[in-house]
Formats: sequence, C-alpha cells, structure tokens
Amino acid sequence: MNKTCSYGILGIGSCLPEKILTNFDWEKMVDTTDEWITKRTGISERRVLEKNEPGHEIGVKAAKRALEDAGLNAEDLDLIIVATETPDYLTPSMSCLIQNGIGAKKAAAFDLNAACSGFIYSMTVAGQFIKTGMYKHILVVGCESLTKAMDWNDRNTCVLFGDGAGAAVLGPVEEGYGVLNTCIGAVGEMGHNITLPCCYVNEAEAAKRQGEDKRVFWMDGSEVFKFAVKIMEYGTNKALEEIGLKLDDVKLIVPHQANIRILEGAAKRLGVTSDKVFSNIQKYGNISSASIPVGLNDAYRGGKINKGDNLVLVGFGGGLTWGSAVIKWSK
Ligand code: ACO
Repeated sequence: MNKTCSYGILGIGSCLPEKILTNFDWEKMVDTTDEWITKRTGISERRVLEKNEPGHEIGVKAAKRALEDAGLNAEDLDLIIVATETPDYLTPSMSCLIQNGIGAKKAAAFDLNAACSGFIYSMTVAGQFIKTGMYKHILVVGCESLTKAMDWNDRNTCVLFGDGAGAAVLGPVEEGYGVLNTCIGAVGEMGHNITLPCCYVNEAEAAKRQGEDKRVFWMDGSEVFKFAVKIMEYGTNKALEEIGLKLDDVKLIVPHQANIRILEGAAKRLGVTSDKVFSNIQKYGNISSASIPVGLNDAYRGGKINKGDNLVLVGFGGGLTWGSAVIKWSK
C-alpha cells in the first residue's frame, strides 16, 4: 500500500488505428446483429489494425503524444514499461520496439502482462522506481493488437475487441498530488476463463477452439462478467478506504471498458450515478491494457478532469487479474 507519494502523470496520449469496423460490418462476417452487440455490450464500433500494420507503431505514436503533453523528450526517459497481452513478438519486447521507435536511448525497457489490468500494474511498478529515487521519468504504455489474436469465426468473442494504445509519462509531482494509492491482485484459480495460448496448447484448450488455429483468444464471458462486477466494486472501495477517501470525494471513475452492462452493474453496487463512470466503449470496444489510458486521455482532453480532481482507475482481466488506483490529478 502506498500511503503517500509524489509521483503522478506528467503527460498522456493515445493512438487508435484508422480503420473502423462497425457492428454492421460484423453482421456480414458472423451470425450476429447490431442489435445484439449494442444491447448486450454497448459497443457500436472498434478500431482495427490492418494485417500488415504492427501493433508497436500505435504504441510509438501514443508515446510521442504523451511525451509532448509532458513537455519532455524521449531522451529524458529512464525506463519504459509496456503493458500488453498481444505483443508483436515475444522478443524483441514491445518496450524495446517502442524505445527504438521514439529514440529513448537512455531508457531500460521491459514488457508486463497482466491482461486488461496491465496499465494499473505497470503504473504501480513504475511508482516503486520513482519513489525510491532510482528513476525520474518512466513511460508506461498499454498497447494491444487484440484483433490479431481473435478467432474471427467465434461470435462469442470476436465482436468484443479492438486495437489501440494509450501512454502516460510518470514522474515526480507536487506533494499531495499524483498517484495516491494503487492496489493490484490476481485470482489464478480463475485463469482458465480467459486463455490465449502462446508456446504451448494442451488438449483441453485446443478442444475449446473450433477452427484450425488453436493459438487464438477464448473466454467464458459469463464467468468473467460475474467476477468483473464484484471486483470493480471491491477494487474501487479498497483503493479509497486505504487512504481514508470516500466515493463522494471522487470526481470520476475511469474503468476498464469491457461491457457497458459491467459498468452499469458496478455503478449500481457502488451507489454512484452512471455519469460518474467514464465510458467510451461504444467507439473502441475492449482494448485490454490500452483501455484505461485511452479512457483517461479522452476524459482529460474532453475537459472532464481538472487539476485537484480525485479519480479512480479500476480494471480486471485475464489471469484473472485486477487493479485499482486513486489519482489526484496534477496537471
Ligand atoms: N451475436 C449474437 N448472439 C451471440 C453473440 C453475438 N456476437 N455472442 C454470443 N451470442 C449468443 C450466445 O451464443 C448465447 O446463445 P444461446 O443462448 O443460444 O446459447 C446468447 O447469445 C447469450 O450468450 P451469453 O454468453 O449468456 O451472453 P451474455 O449476455 O453473457 O454476453 C458477453 C456475453 C458479452 C461476452 C458478456 O458475458 C461479457 O461481456 N463478459 C465479460 C467479458 C469481459 O469482461 N472480458 C474482460 C476480460 S478480456 C481480456 O482480458 C482481454
């Protein structure tokens, strides 16, 4: 638990691929309807990388925008952490590809996989380096190419996801501002509910997948749904309670965007109105670790966040993992 801290977000940016795939496009590809997708998920469209377009390039663009927003140069960075569950390669890591793409010659670089909770995990890790004084400026990027890992014939999953990248530059901020607390956790015994095989696929996992390609995403949506609604409430309350804050002290909750019904369910359990829970799922679908920084960027640039506002970030995902954070906005 981080009782006090003086690190925060100095700059933020995002990049979404240009290509848009609407629900009506999906109607032509799988047995689905715009009505089903809209009603069951809240998603209308998502951004999709072209087949020959690598994921790290949107990460590079998001990183450059975050650096510009922070008023810093790539050479000011000491470390780059990229949260991803869909790297272009296992090696070189996405963080090394982005380090090269932005020219951050002095920065160390590694990837971190906590699925959709990855941005909060990465922010938590970055905070430890800054608080101890080991590093000053750390770039954290959530960068995903989920549509490249989908079974495009599995209507249960393919319509839910999109591609995107969001980045934040973290560094020292005024005392009392910045990241006030973070909580992270994992429930490995529920991991079988979301699987994306890489170097090993066992028979049970292979049997879940109908097509020839077994290295594709699979999810038990209803099990994840139940976990998500409970953990959003738990994570939000825990992060606030540990530092003596209440929901009334919070201006905006910026959650992971997986399903509008999860956001509505969590809002109801927390006893807050839906305007206190940020949502852009309609435009992007689920973009995993990129979801929270892209949401934060949209909220910030859309004028929903001002200096001194308390924000809660909260997410959940494969692993299963979860994370929450309280930030007093310092920009
Ligand atoms: N179009 C039409 N029908 C569909 C579609 C579709 N795209 N997908 C599923 N259906 C059908 C099912 O086949 C099922 O039909 P049946 O009753 O004849 O069997 C019916 O719709 C209902 O299916 P459910 O799975 O019960 O639908 P549900 O209301 O639970 O919605 C969904 C499914 C959207 C996946 C929901 O469970 C969900 O959002 N879960 C959470 C997902 C999540 O949060 N993931 C985050 C982590 S992801 C990560 O880590 C990258």
